[in-house]
Amino acid sequence: MSVLPIVLYNDPVLREKATPVKSDSKEIQTLIDDMFDTMYEASGVGLAAPQIGKSLRLFVVDADIMVEDTDEDPFGPMVFINPEILASDDNKVVIEEGCLSLPELRETVARPDEITIRFLDREFKEHQKTFTGWMSRVIQHEYDHLEGILFFDYLGSFKKRLIARRLQLIDEGQVETEYPIRER
Ligand code: NI
Repeated sequence: MSVLPIVLYNDPVLREKATPVKSDSKEIQTLIDDMFDTMYEASGVGLAAPQIGKSLRLFVVDADIMVEDTDEDPFGPMVFINPEILASDDNKVVIEEGCLSLPELRETVARPDEITIRFLDREFKEHQKTFTGWMSRVIQHEYDHLEGILFFDYLGSFKKRLIARRLQLIDEGQVETEYPIRER
């Protein structure tokens, strides 16, 4: 098990549409273990394979820390392989988000509160589940990574101008993180 360096927002791999995972293998299981190690090391609640430079439709989530003081259920660590969002709520909620590929940037984003998603777990068993609250939020954020979407894409032009400087600093390598990053 090992902690892998996380790619930053300007890495082209984060703009690709990731490809489906073909089948189970020792490599995929090791990758999943490494992604959990990397996510926990970076104090993240979700991590998508493109964020460690692998353009695969796979992400891991553990949002238990977010639900500690809420009435939401803890789900523990979860793996989503080849996920497909089947339905989402018309009711949108505004929540502040961050991303390990965008250090020190936090902005509010409106997303559906409830989603229904079909996915394979790490045993490649199929599930269909409906999530609300924090799990729904983290899942939607990670799912976007598989589509080449980053959360600041949702910001309006005014907010985009406000964050331009921060993005430029990342471009220039002037970024400090408490986890390993892979600079371009
Ligand atoms: Ni992210």
